[in-house]
Amino acid sequence: MTALRTKYWNAVDGTAEQTEQAVAEAAALLREGGLVAFPTETVYGLGADAANGQAVEAIFAAKGRPQDNPLIVHIADQEQADALASRIGPVERALMARFWPGPLTLVLPARPGALPAAVTAGLDTVGVRMPAHPLALRLIRAAGRALAAPSANRSGRPSPTTAAHVLEDLDGAIGGVLDGGPAGIGLESTVVRVDESAGRIHVLRPGGITAAMLRQAAPHMDIADVSESAEQAEAPRSPGMKYTHYAPKGELTLVRCADPSASPEETRARVSRSMYDQLETLRAQGISTGVLLFRGEREAEPAPYPADLVIDCGPPDRPEEAARRLYAALRQFDDANVAAIFAEALPEDGIGRAVMNRLRKAAARITDV
Ligand code: TXA
Ligand code: MG
Repeated sequence: MTALRTKYWNAVDGTAEQTEQAVAEAAALLREGGLVAFPTETVYGLGADAANGQAVEAIFAAKGRPQDNPLIVHIADQEQADALASRIGPVERALMARFWPGPLTLVLPARPGALPAAVTAGLDTVGVRMPAHPLALRLIRAAGRALAAPSANRSGRPSPTTAAHVLEDLDGAIGGVLDGGPAGIGLESTVVRVDESAGRIHVLRPGGITAAMLRQAAPHMDIADVSESAEQAEAPRSPGMKYTHYAPKGELTLVRCADPSASPEETRARVSRSMYDQLETLRAQGISTGVLLFRGEREAEPAPYPADLVIDCGPPDRPEEAARRLYAALRQFDDANVAAIFAEALPEDGIGRAVMNRLRKAAARITDV
């Protein structure tokens, strides 16, 4: 592939006219079949005209993404969803009304011929979402078309939460990046598939829209989180769930307390002790190590772990903060070439569930202490 000059548009601290100009240029590039990374409220997306088969194929090439992992189509108004889906049922309508724009992707029956096969990886369904980010919505409207957009990382890397992360992975491989500052939530959207006849909403990927929020919006439906079920791994509705997830350069060990009745203090102490012992052993062998904590303690307080890099992603009762910081932290471990990472578990309340889903997928092993 010939290297492109990747354009950088600053839409963070320019004047209103400069932002307008940036959006117009990015939209023009998309209409010509180019690839543009843009901010959303979850993570940065790598957009292409969803109706342009060549542009969509260029996304797979730029990311090094397996062809059988379908893309999410991003829209700015409901009519675009009607053009993409052959049918939208009442529960799906209710979820759209309640959560769009926002971090919810609906897997809908695809309208035949509406999109090139590459977008849906040949499936008869299409993932659709309306992002809640003003720049994303402006860009989609200015381009005048739906945008296919996976997360804007090289396949196998953590999703980007800043424009700098996008450039780390894709500089020279894409047409441009629209910098809108740090993404808000920090983890990818919740992906769901509604099975109206079974009265069930399947959560294929947990995210910012939690099971409790879905239950509230559709009280008569069952909510089934199948994101980590074995059945799902065998017959994936979401091929991406099978294998395409971040794996750090180093081996990540998730260290959990096996005793649910242990107090938070006891849990922390046990986890710390186990990490400490494992770190000492590795250090003695000259292996570079890292620690990922959810403590939010003042600087002096985290036990001085014998590790090369210790990152604290905030207190255990603030899962939103953990979500926002997780991917940048994982990139830091990669950048520091840490060979062994020990991560503690976060309570699975709210978006804590999504944080733990990503950590479990990144983990090589789980140690119960
Ligand atoms: O928050 C997000 O969703 C971000 C931003 C950019 O919008 N996008 C994102 O895209 O995370 P990506 O490609 O990294 O993840 C898309 C996920 C994959 O797990 C994929 O398998 C699933 O959505 N997906 C897409 N279309 C699907 C379909 N038709 N059926 C089942 N799963 C689908
Ligand atoms: Mg992704």
